[in-house]
Amino acid sequence: MMSFKVSHRFATLLPLGLVIALVGCGPSPSTSATATTETASAAPSSRSLMPSDPALKSLYIQSCYGCHSTGVAGAPRSGNQTDWAPRLQKGMDVLLSNTVNGLNSMPPKGMCMGCSEEDFRNLIVFLSGQSE
Ligand code: HEC
Repeated sequence: MMSFKVSHRFATLLPLGLVIALVGCGPSPSTSATATTETASAAPSSRSLMPSDPALKSLYIQSCYGCHSTGVAGAPRSGNQTDWAPRLQKGMDVLLSNTVNGLNSMPPKGMCMGCSEEDFRNLIVFLSGQSE
């Protein structure tokens, strides 16, 4: 039957829609003032933190995310103030040039060959947790 086929196909698409909806929603900041024991788990995770700008988000996922979301090879983790505090002291110009030229295990351009200088600046602002 035609109607059966249609609804069946719709059912297989549902889980995909759910995944997209979940990825689309960033972590909402905790509004509870009574959370005393959940400090660590309530902090926004570097893994789920995403730029709010869709274009920047896709650049981030394609390049920086692989290392900076979990801190691969000592990469400062996205939005992690402890990781970024000493880096930020170098100033944006140094961070930008180290991003473009590479630094130790950090590959030149963070493997984003299509990123403009403007993109890198925005990505660094996001990575270092300065965008909120
Ligand atoms: C292959 C893994 C990898 C990828 C991909 C990557 N990074 Fe990194 N990044 C690192 C590592 C490792 C470090 C720490 C380097 C060090 O200090 O030795 C780092 C450090 C940095 C720093 C700090 C530089 C400094 O002077 O302290 C910035 C800024 C940065 N990355 C930006 C980016 C951006 C923007 C992207 C995406 C376009 C990106 N990274 C992609 C691994 C990566």
